[in-house]
Amino acid sequence: MLNQFWSRFSYDIGIDLGTANTLVYVKGKGILVREPTVVAIHKKTKDILAVGSEAKRMIGKTPASITAIRPLRDGVISDFTVTQKMLEYYLKLVHEMPSQFPKLPRPRVVLGVPQGVTSVERKAVVDAARSAGAREAFLLDEPMAAAIGIGLPVLEAQGTMIVDMGGGTSEIAVISLGGIVVNKSLRVAGDELDQEIVDYAKNKYNLLLGERTAEEIKFSIGNVIEYEGEAAHKALFRGRDLKSGLPRSIEISPAEIREALKVPVYSIIDAIKDAIEETPAELVSDILKNGITLAGGTSLLRGMDKLMSHELKVPVKVVPDPMTCVVRGCGIVLDDRDLLNKVRIR
Ligand SMILES: Nc1ncnc2c1ncn2[C@@H]1O[C@H](COP(=O)(O)OP(=O)(O)OP(=O)(O)O)[C@@H](O)[C@H]1O
Ligand SMILES: [Mg+2]
Repeated sequence: MLNQFWSRFSYDIGIDLGTANTLVYVKGKGILVREPTVVAIHKKTKDILAVGSEAKRMIGKTPASITAIRPLRDGVISDFTVTQKMLEYYLKLVHEMPSQFPKLPRPRVVLGVPQGVTSVERKAVVDAARSAGAREAFLLDEPMAAAIGIGLPVLEAQGTMIVDMGGGTSEIAVISLGGIVVNKSLRVAGDELDQEIVDYAKNKYNLLLGERTAEEIKFSIGNVIEYEGEAAHKALFRGRDLKSGLPRSIEISPAEIREALKVPVYSIIDAIKDAIEETPAELVSDILKNGITLAGGTSLLRGMDKLMSHELKVPVKVVPDPMTCVVRGCGIVLDDRDLLNKVRIR
């Protein structure tokens, strides 16, 4: 009865609280928020000055009184207060959007979390959602949410392998009968790749790069396997010379970036190999037949699917729109109580 009242006057919301990007899905309306997980706050008053892309533009460029924070690192909440404020901000934003009936900010919320998080970290996510106004908060393992969002047959008696490579974590899971049979979670993903580019510039060229510049280089010439026409591609390392302290720029090639990214990329591949080794034989044969599905922003790195299928000898494909799978999956379970009860983390 009470639930019926609330469901009329408040929203059902799915949230992918990602290290790099936060997405908010509202039932009946679609994905309403898709923003970088960055918050700019006033250092003294702790007031929020900007959230999302506006705050991301401020990283590394803020005056002394302002700080641009990424409240999630390595897939977990590193700054609880800021995460809670960010959730509050988005829940308020969603509830202020025009709708037929006025809505109260007391939503039912389903959130995707990395499968490697501890119970303390999980509780922190639920607490952040509750203190931001949620009347109920359920958690899903990110790879499960992603697989549901993609429409993979998670409830069937067959092995489905999904690899979700985001900003802070890479999540590997073999799913069958609504459960995760084998899982691996590595704190190696997009952020680590950016860091490798920063280290490469420092070690090889004595150049200090900002993390945003490193990410832009990754977008433009990032790759993991030789590709046609790469000789014509170049990018500029624009940074500060570590000796002179002055600005300097250097032209770099896709082959150099490939070299820089090799270690983290192969650590993800090795973890997938380990996961396959741990998978029961019956399910491995399903994976060989159906292949591995890649999701998350880092799956967009040029050549990732090709390199993986070459190394793993299994078909590998990147799904369309890989950065929205988790939030779409959260949205699907909001509508399906049965499914929610089967797959949610307890
Ligand atoms: N075209 C691209 N090439 C390479 N990397 C990309 C591309 N597009 C996005 N990325 C990277 O994908 C990452 C963000 O992906 P995503 O939004 O799936 O992460 P997230 O869900 O926020 O993080 P996590 O799941 O680890 O908490 C960033 O590191 C970004 O640099
Ligand atoms: Mg993610």
